[in-house]
Amino acid sequence: MDSYDRMHSLTTLAVILLATVTDVLSSSDSSDFYNQTCPQAPTIVQNTVHDIMQKNKGIAAGVLQLQFHDCIITGCDGSILLSSPDNTSEKDALKSSLRGFTEIDQIKSAVEAECPGVVSCADILALAARDGVVEVAGKGWFVTLGRKDGMESNNSDVPLVHPGAFMSYDELVDTFAAKGFTAEEMITLSGAHTLGRAVCGLPPIQIRYYQYNGTIGSVDPSIDPNFARSVKQMCPMDTKSRVPVPLDLTNTTFDNKYYQAVLANQGVLKSDASLITNPDGRKLVTRYSQSDSDFQRDFGAVMEKLINQRWAKDGEIRRSWSAMNTDSISL
Ligand code: HEM
Repeated sequence: MDSYDRMHSLTTLAVILLATVTDVLSSSDSSDFYNQTCPQAPTIVQNTVHDIMQKNKGIAAGVLQLQFHDCIITGCDGSILLSSPDNTSEKDALKSSLRGFTEIDQIKSAVEAECPGVVSCADILALAARDGVVEVAGKGWFVTLGRKDGMESNNSDVPLVHPGAFMSYDELVDTFAAKGFTAEEMITLSGAHTLGRAVCGLPPIQIRYYQYNGTIGSVDPSIDPNFARSVKQMCPMDTKSRVPVPLDLTNTTFDNKYYQAVLANQGVLKSDASLITNPDGRKLVTRYSQSDSDFQRDFGAVMEKLINQRWAKDGEIRRSWSAMNTDSISL
């Protein structure tokens, strides 16, 4: 090997090592905020998520959705987890579709058992959402820690800021723009629907597949007819049905197949289908449908933006995942 080859090999090795280090740092690491008070917190969360997911892989979807709602409503402050005696908290506005609360309880209890009163629920949710995605083949993202738990959670905040399942492309763009996200980032975030399910009996399915535009028996004509038929076979016309409809055929693997489905007019929700009604939207959906690595990289980057840009600086460290402390502990 001459000196040029040796230099070339060393450079290649350095690039590979750098890429590996960057990958490790960005995929499953977190900042050292709890190093003095509970250095084991990220590992406890990761191990508990791993244990939970041995029994229920679907919970990655539930917790990821909780994280999105938590951040988009009033900032990432764990307020989506709060209960209120008169059912007026954020989760009451969305309750029918949310899951993962029992698991967050389990994770919070595991952390509290080792470090009582130190780690916020908002941080636990941020770690658990990332770790759940990594468990199902997602590349993940870096989680900066140090959020406090919010002291307010109002169901009236939800409709003002929340994207709706029947929104057009422009409405989705506007809703996300109001929270500081570009159209491209909205499309990337929508890729979260590679995981999880919708519930048959709720309006996003009942209306799109059984009474489109208010006409009983009509289906959204933009859906591939065979796909619409298969969803209807799974889902009776019954608003009480709680049968799950997978948002993507590989809905326990974090991959780019969601975008392939959307391009084939097999997106389950109207909002999924809306992504390709705009030429730029269609272009990005097509690119993601062809490149899992582009999708994973961009998804990680936009999740970091989501979980970092709107911090709750005022608040407390809740001892219980679902209730405020009666006294406040400050960091
Ligand atoms: C683009 C606007 C969005 C709309 C209109 C929307 C709407 C919905 C709806 C209607 C469901 C089904 C709920 C049910 O029927 O029970 C759902 C599920 C889900 N959403 Fe979204 N969503 C959007 C964006 C996002 C984003 C940005 C994320 C996360 C980053 C996300 C994560 C999820 C997940 C993981 C599920 C499955 C939950 C589970 O299986 O428990 N969604 N979404």
